[in-house]
Amino acid sequence: MYGMVNKAVEEMVISQFDDETWEKIKAKAAIDVEIFISNETYPDEITYKLVVSAAEILKLTPDQVLEAFGIHWVCHTAPEGYGELFTAGGKTLSDFLVNLPSFHSRIKLIFPKLDPPIFIITEPADNSLSLHYYSPRPGLTSFVIGLLKGLGIYYKTQLDIVLVNSSEAGSDHDEFLLTW
Ligand code: HEM
Repeated sequence: MYGMVNKAVEEMVISQFDDETWEKIKAKAAIDVEIFISNETYPDEITYKLVVSAAEILKLTPDQVLEAFGIHWVCHTAPEGYGELFTAGGKTLSDFLVNLPSFHSRIKLIFPKLDPPIFIITEPADNSLSLHYYSPRPGLTSFVIGLLKGLGIYYKTQLDIVLVNSSEAGSDHDEFLLTW
């Protein structure tokens, strides 16, 4: 994944805890990258190791770290670091969700090595839709839940998220029923 992801994990830890905690997390993960470069790519393994190590140091589960990271990404990293790309996603929560399937294709124009998730929408209605999330990367359901919660916070709109089918339970993808 692009370094911007690992960098955002670092920013989240430093803003919610401190530099020392981040150094402990990196050391426990045995990662000797001094500085992550946003537009360089790194093996996914580094990101997974950081999440597991953060969970151990912060006494949380990896899912709790991923969810907090999703919220941080949408409420801080995206608007503060990638403002124009982010706001192009839509003026309201419902616009953003409807546009989500094509969202990363715009990002790929600027970051060509992007290997984004696939989002598909079914049953779109005025205040609800089904969001289908496909990825070759395992275990990121809680990250998606955090991202969706972050969108609800960012757009100041009450969003209900129900995981109706999950890859963990044997489906080939996750399906969320979203109501706002
Ligand atoms: C300006 C805002 C955003 C930027 C710049 C961005 C960029 C990225 C980047 C660089 C990755 C790592 C993949 C790679 O490097 O190959 C990624 C992954 C991902 N993004 Fe975004 N993203 C943004 C917003 C969002 C939003 C709002 C959502 C969903 C609601 C989202 C969902 C995901 C997911 C689930 C992944 C994990 C990869 C996977 O599942 O395979 N992103 N994004």
